[in-house]
Order: sequence, then C-alpha cells, then structure tokens
Amino acid sequence: MGKMWEGRFAKALDSQADDFNSSIHFDCRMFRQDIQGSVAHATMLAAKGIIDAGDAQAIIAELGHILADLDSGALSIDFAAEDIHMFVEAELTKRLGDVGKKLHTARSRNDQVAVDIRLYLRDEAEGILQQLQTLLDAILFQAKQHKQTIMPGYTHLQRAQPITFAHHLLAYGMMFTRDMDRIKDAVKRMNVSPLGSCALAGTTYDTDREMTAKALGFDGIALNSIDGVSDRDFCVELLSAFATVMMHLSRFSEEVILWASWEFKFIELDDSYTTGSSIMPQKKNPDIAELVRGKTGRVYGDLMAMLTVLKGLPLAYNKDMQEDKEAIFDAIDTVKQCLTVFPPMIRSMKALPENMMQAAQKGFINATDLADYLVKKGMPFRTAYKIVGQIVAYCIANHQVLEQLSLEEYRQFEPRFEQDVYEQISLQTCVEKRISAGGTGLASVEKQIAYLEQFLS
Ligand code: ARG
Repeated sequence: MGKMWEGRFAKALDSQADDFNSSIHFDCRMFRQDIQGSVAHATMLAAKGIIDAGDAQAIIAELGHILADLDSGALSIDFAAEDIHMFVEAELTKRLGDVGKKLHTARSRNDQVAVDIRLYLRDEAEGILQQLQTLLDAILFQAKQHKQTIMPGYTHLQRAQPITFAHHLLAYGMMFTRDMDRIKDAVKRMNVSPLGSCALAGTTYDTDREMTAKALGFDGIALNSIDGVSDRDFCVELLSAFATVMMHLSRFSEEVILWASWEFKFIELDDSYTTGSSIMPQKKNPDIAELVRGKTGRVYGDLMAMLTVLKGLPLAYNKDMQEDKEAIFDAIDTVKQCLTVFPPMIRSMKALPENMMQAAQKGFINATDLADYLVKKGMPFRTAYKIVGQIVAYCIANHQVLEQLSLEEYRQFEPRFEQDVYEQISLQTCVEKRISAGGTGLASVEKQIAYLEQFLS
C-alpha cells in the first residue's frame, strides 16, 4: 500500500520495517472512535468555512457508511495500512476521491490518536464501572444472607476475633466502591479534548476546538497543544486504578481459594465455577479464582510498561507512544474478563456456616472478650490481659477451650469470675457486643449494607 507521506521519499519503506512500524493490528479496535472524531472534525471545518459545506456533508455521510460497513462486515480492515487513522482516511478517499483528502485539514494523527484513545477509554471505563456494580451486587447478595453467620476473623492468618461473614465480605465491598471512584476520577481528568492541537503547535486555520470538544462529549479542551498530544498520564491513572481493582480481586480470590480448601471448607464453589483434574477424580479446583489472582500480574506489568514508555520522552509526540495502546488494551481486556466471571462466582458460592462456626470455636478467639470481662469487673486491662494469657496457656496444656473451663478452674486464676462469664464469652455475644461504628455487630453491618445499596443507586 502506498504511504500518505511517500512524497518526500525516494525509496519505499523496507517491508519488515513497515510491519514493525504498523499499529493497525491493535489500534483497529478504535475504528468507531476514529470515525466519531473525524465526523466532529469535518463538521467543525465546515462550520468555520475551512472546507466547503457540501464537501463536509459528503465526508460525514461517507464516514457513516464506512462505519456501517465495518460493523456489518461488508468492509474489513486492511492490515497493510499503517494504522487505523490511515486506513479510514484511505478508505474515505477511495470512495470520495479528492473530497476525502480534505478531511485531514487542520489536524494531525498526533491529536487524532490522542482523541481516539480518550474516547475509547471513556467507553471502556463505563463498561468496567458497570461490571464493578454487578460485583457489588453479588457481595450484597451474600452479605444480606450472612449477617449473623459467625466466622473467625484473622490477623497474620491466625484466628483473632469472631466476626460475621457479612462483615468480612462487606470489607471487599468498600474497597470496590473506592475502585469505582478512582476510575470515575481518572475519567474526569481524561475527558478533555486534544483535538485541534494538531502535530504539536496548533494550526494557522481558524478552528473551533470548543465545538469539536462539545460534539464529542468532552468537558473542555487541552489548554496547551503540546501537552494535548504528548501526555498519556490519563492512561497511567486508569491503569493504576485497574491495577488496584486487580489487587483487590486477587486478595479476594486468595481467600476464596483458601475458603474452598478442605483445610477451611468455609464455602463451596458452584460447579460452574470450578474445574476437575485430569488425573485425580476427587478434585474440584478453584481455577477461576486462581486465574484472577494470576492475571493481576499482567495488569501490574501493563502499568509498569506505560510508565516506562513515558519516562524520558522529550516533548512532544514520539513514536514510542504507540506502545501505549497494547498495554492499556491488555489491561482493559484482562479486567473485563476477570469481572465477567468473578461476580457470578461470588454470587453462586455457598457459605458453610457450621464449618465457619466450628473454626471460630477452636482458636481462643474470645480471649479479648474474656479480658474485657475482667476489665468490666474493675481490673486494669493489662492485668486482665496477662491473666487471660495464663488461662489460654492452661487450656492448651489441658486440651481445653475457654467455653469449657469450669468456674472452679477460672477462679483459680482470679476470684472475680462468676457464672455470667460463659454468657459473656459466647461467640454470639462477642459478635453482638461489637457495637462500635464499622464493627461486626448487627446494627453496624446493616449500616454498611445500606451504605453500599445507596452507593449503587
Ligand atoms: N499509530 C500512531 C500511534 O499510535 C499514530 C500517531 C502517529 N503519528 C506520527 N507522527 N507518526 O501513536
């Protein structure tokens, strides 16, 4: 295929160098946004009298046909083209002759690509936000059923204090609300139009950048044309938000994997989100959660790749910046894939409250409450803490748990113990008593559920 820029050259580009230089294999996915941007540009050129109104109409109509043909499959992308921008323009010119050649007046591929990628990311971010809503829905669905399902809460993966399964799941819910806010925030800063920045310096034509910005749904224009074409900080921000989503999904996955193990057996994953082994007939593996955990690294890598591409680039556009796309596209594809399978996996998993309860009973997780019991009987906390430590050591040596020690045994450590101690250290009481804001008590958990429902509405 002949190059648009071939006039200056005596020789054609080496064919391997041509392949190397080409980005159409990956930027072809922005064809819709490229055409959208061109329609806005042509409309503005005519409104400002830079091209003829009739020519603009022909261009806009034909761009519409090209889009329809690409959508229907009547037209397929020519992968010999250098990039999607060249392809669309060449196709337009093929169809309209000289009129098609007027579209690129007062524009450069540098501002064109910067527009396309913003429009593309804006659309994709919207889809990912919807997927995160579905995940929050799934979390709420489970949480509402398990407001009183007691499980051990952990620190250092050691049983720490009793909590409810709802409380634990809602912690993830809170994380995903912040992830959504981070994405929205990144989109807000990204949503300014670089169109009209041209190659870097602006143009001699009397263009109206506000007009194209408005037509494309941007909140404003890039105030500096060099900045408009040369920064990709919005990609970094979005990638960082996506990496954080993956980090949260990965932690959640790790717990799902642990919970589904025979060692925990806190949950049973639905058959439709587990796989078998080719050799071990008994296996039911949490592959989906494992893959989500595994794919997290890719997205971190995409973020690093983007930061590294930009580091050390002189202003303004450099071809290095073509490398922005594969990184951000890969991150988007990965996050979307994960958010397609993860929410239904969470929604369909079955909690096993008896096993959670059993695990909660064995690890002295009411020891803090036993100390608090003595504090309420007038003992300083540090003294109570020490006595309870001795009681726990005694239990371990005698294969006992706190709930089963006799009152006589308790009194050997401290005469303040009375019959009410059993009631006070029951796991139900331990959970119910945690009435502080954000805590595991029922009223607090219900507030957290209400917050998430409000966030979603
Ligand atoms: N394919 C290019 C990219 O993705 C488009 C911009 C090309 N601009 C240029 N001056 N060569 O960055």
